[in-house]
Amino acid sequence: MSEKQEKIKVRRVQFGHDSTAQRYWFNGNAFATHFLNSLHSVFPDGERLFIRSVRYYEKLIQNPELKERVKGFIGQEVQHGLQHQKFFETLKEQGFDVDVFVQWYKDAAYEKYLEPFFRAIIGSKRLADMGSLSVTAALEHYTATLAEVVLKDPDTFLQGVPDDMKKMLMWHAAEEIEHKSVAYDVYVEQCDNNYPMRMFGFTTATIFFFFFIASGWGWYIANDKEWKWSDLPGNILQAAPVYLNLAWGFIQGAIPYLKPDFHPDQISNTQLAKQFFDLQSQYFAERSA
Ligand SMILES: [Fe+2]
Ligand SMILES: [Fe+2]
Repeated sequence: MSEKQEKIKVRRVQFGHDSTAQRYWFNGNAFATHFLNSLHSVFPDGERLFIRSVRYYEKLIQNPELKERVKGFIGQEVQHGLQHQKFFETLKEQGFDVDVFVQWYKDAAYEKYLEPFFRAIIGSKRLADMGSLSVTAALEHYTATLAEVVLKDPDTFLQGVPDDMKKMLMWHAAEEIEHKSVAYDVYVEQCDNNYPMRMFGFTTATIFFFFFIASGWGWYIANDKEWKWSDLPGNILQAAPVYLNLAWGFIQGAIPYLKPDFHPDQISNTQLAKQFFDLQSQYFAERSA
């Protein structure tokens, strides 16, 4: 392992969203804004899945340091969910009935269809909990990978994003890096790092991560009363270099997860998170609850 594991700090930050009241807050680009709106809408319930999956094992964890890190992980994910959900109010003011999409997504992913379906076909609760943790470990690798790509070059990836939103997205990204190995370490300790199940989790996470983000993206476009199809080619042209870079960084970062001896700490990126919080210490001190 190359990275030293530090204590995970929970930051209770209040981000304002006045500047994001502008409908197409992502660089004036409707297409790109709705991609980010979809992420905002999908994250809170995804994070609740992560918390649930790790909590199934919390009492069983043997390593006291890991137990501590689990507490930090849960605390950070709770805060992420709250801050993304806070942005729903701005989206509602813009005329998006976010609750409709979120309810559909919750039913489809966690409450009525996918998760209950997987639990039913797996049969055993023990195996299903293990599957849920393996999906979480894979998604945590995805969020840490995405975070690394964005934090390496925020001026490109978050160009034209209002400052509060930029800080919020970077805060989330930096904390994803800080807790990147927690779910994985729980999986190693409690599930013996079972490789076939880890690959099952990775496959499931990959398919549905993209499926639900794409669904949200489509939903925002379909429900945007000011949407102009004539702007779409220009929007795509403007965003294409950023998206292609993002996708390429993401693919490169995701592939090592397939190695049987993979561990998130083999990837050196905690410095990016540290740098961000060091540079923004005053901003966070002023907005901490
Ligand atoms: Fe998160
Ligand atoms: Fe996370």
